Amino acid sequence: RSLMNHFKVGTLAGLGLTDFPLGSIAAGAVMQYLKETQKTSMEHITQIQTYVTGKYMILDIVKLGTPSLREKSVPVEEINDEIRQLAEDMLETMIEANGVGLACPQIGKNIRMFVLIADDDVRRVFINPTIIKTSEETCDYEEGCLSVPQFYESITRPEKVTVQAWNENGKPFTLEADGFLARIIQHEYDHLDGIIYIDRGDKEFAEKTEAQFKKRAE
Ligand code: NI
Repeated sequence: RSLMNHFKVGTLAGLGLTDFPLGSIAAGAVMQYLKETQKTSMEHITQIQTYVTGKYMILDIVKLGTPSLREKSVPVEEINDEIRQLAEDMLETMIEANGVGLACPQIGKNIRMFVLIADDDVRRVFINPTIIKTSEETCDYEEGCLSVPQFYESITRPEKVTVQAWNENGKPFTLEADGFLARIIQHEYDHLDGIIYIDRGDKEFAEKTEAQFKKRAE
């Protein structure tokens, strides 16, 4: 699935789709529409508008055993429409998968960005994050991961973290987090360095789990 190709309004006008209010639309949504219907009537224009109002694509989440999960990601060079669309797609993909966080390596892109929704229900995007402070106090929490489905393990991590990052609008921010939010931030941040939560737990469990997934991936 390509995130690079976005239809501009001009292209849509060429297709007879002149009333699109959006500057650019995920190509997948338009292609899907064109596949499903061959004619372009007013009725269909309304349908396609409805179809892309959400402006997102559900992405494939890769599983343990996929190389991108074990690679160190590189910084995002420019926070532009493409990155904003990707963040949106990732949030929707995460929600559909009943997750609370999703990092770029999990959708096969090794760039430093992750998204999350903690218990305060806020959609958060972290671009080029740095954890600048961690508390000495730690706590245990049972973690899972959309790339390691059906596996859970209690992991010990710092209780509080302070993170510096940029949001999807290119605005830098510093966030002091504790509780569930701090936990998700640390889990997702690890993904950007090729670290999976099981690496921080029981060594034997980690090896067994990884071997199991590698076998499945073959
Ligand atoms: Ni994860």
